[in-house]
Amino acid sequence: MHNIQFSDRDRRALYSTWERLGVKGPKHTSLLLGNLWQILSQGRFKLYREWTQRYGKVFGYYEGGQPLLVVSDPDITKEVLIKQFSKFDERVPLFDDPDDKYVDMFRAWGEKWKRVRGISTPTFSGKKMKLMSPLLQKSIHKLMDKFEKRVQEGKEFDISEDFKCLTLDVIATTAFSYHTDIFNTKESIFLKKLSLIFDNINPEKMPLSMKITLLLFLTFPNLHKLASFFWPRVTAPPNDWFLDLAKAMIIQRQTTGEVRPDYIQLMLNLLKEPEKDVSKASSTENGSAADNQPASSNPSKFLTMEEMQGQIFVFLSAGYETTATTLSFIAYYLVLYPDIQSKLQEEIDQHFPVPGDDINYETVQQLPYLEMVFCEVSRLAYIGQLAVQRKCKEDTTVGGNILVPKGAKVLINVADIHMSSDLWGPEPIDELVPERFLSERKALRHPMAYLPFGAGPKNCIGMRFAIMETKMTLISVLQRYTVVKCNKTKVPIKCNPDGVHGPAEGVFVQLHHRSHD
Ligand code: HEM
Repeated sequence: MHNIQFSDRDRRALYSTWERLGVKGPKHTSLLLGNLWQILSQGRFKLYREWTQRYGKVFGYYEGGQPLLVVSDPDITKEVLIKQFSKFDERVPLFDDPDDKYVDMFRAWGEKWKRVRGISTPTFSGKKMKLMSPLLQKSIHKLMDKFEKRVQEGKEFDISEDFKCLTLDVIATTAFSYHTDIFNTKESIFLKKLSLIFDNINPEKMPLSMKITLLLFLTFPNLHKLASFFWPRVTAPPNDWFLDLAKAMIIQRQTTGEVRPDYIQLMLNLLKEPEKDVSKASSTENGSAADNQPASSNPSKFLTMEEMQGQIFVFLSAGYETTATTLSFIAYYLVLYPDIQSKLQEEIDQHFPVPGDDINYETVQQLPYLEMVFCEVSRLAYIGQLAVQRKCKEDTTVGGNILVPKGAKVLINVADIHMSSDLWGPEPIDELVPERFLSERKALRHPMAYLPFGAGPKNCIGMRFAIMETKMTLISVLQRYTVVKCNKTKVPIKCNPDGVHGPAEGVFVQLHHRSHD
């Protein structure tokens, strides 16, 4: 697997890997691309469904020069994500560039990942979430103003677009106190740049230069040096814009000494605590980081300027579309299940009788039915399933007798796990049934049955934040409005064929005022 594999013989040897190891799967359809063309032309999600039906809970195939093992067996999932984590502590990066100074925790591995993850973890503690809730509330108020205008207009509209504005505004304010004015203008430079980044990872919208580089790399992974030369050049414009903005914000904060309750501040605060463990760092002081250098005598506890830029960038890209998509799916299911929506509104009315009441990190946790609805929609939506992947770092065996060779990519088939009637029955698995998440039923379920945020040490670090944001938003919306189906609501929802598993054509709804008599 380590030659460049240009020759016919090398390619045939590569494409017999899974067969030799006794793993079932589709035959490669091209000697150059393996099954990649099928994936690109027919859509990954559809093919995974078909292949799972045909080959079972573990199957192997090839994307160019990359062998992949797709797993929907919960025991093997636990082995990969948790028990054998040291052999699977990395996602498969597009390009292995050990010198990437902006490396973020999504792409980092080994000691680098441990360090960045360890330093960033305290910024997502319950205490820090509490500090963030007022910022979130401000963005949610802007969404409520927008919704009020929608109601006045009386028209049906795509609620997923408004949720994207919300999550963008939230991440911009909480990451670096950047004010977007996104709800009032379609010309927001922030939104345009961010949309470009998501177009860049969507095979349908990706520019040709990126497609060619990507195909080259996927076909010949060992040409990664060449590919990593081209990749930053074809992706540079939107990514650089955000990295530069983050840097400007950090420097401004350092020079003015201004203190704000955002992520930049939380990261800067760590710099002032050289002798303490980062998990005990204070949240009120300011500090300074030198360019390119660890900012303290103990580099293991602090982020360099570039690392801070990298983390801000990854929070932005990992937190924006995922959270907006979750909210959009919730809206979709609530219009389909008006009884569940009413029950949720009743619970919200009991806890927050007056719109504008103190909705924050702690109070949102007191609503059990809201939690069940959130979990059940997350089960049905499996938005981030493609992020739950790991690279095998050394030959190992999983499931008792399946040899996974070094360099193979293991992808956890979250969709199939979430839609397994063995794990989620007896009710039909495609129905919204929040009661599946009653605590007595949860206790009996396999711990790997529910994976919207992945699992193990490399699970979603932003989970608490995302849940808080989604619940705070839903409470504010359902206090004031009922979300209803309209002529343009597409049922069943049409989802993207690859990438973030979200609605491909929006979620059209209408909002009706609630009467509180
Ligand atoms: C509902 C919204 C979200 C969903 C569904 C989601 C889902 C996921 C999933 C499935 C993973 C991969 C986990 C694994 O491989 O085991 C992940 C990783 C990650 N997420 Fe999220 N996410 C959401 C929101 C956020 C937010 C708001 C942030 C940041 C503010 C964030 C930051 C990250 C990061 C940095 C990682 C990589 C962690 C690591 O590799 O150590 N996510 N997310």
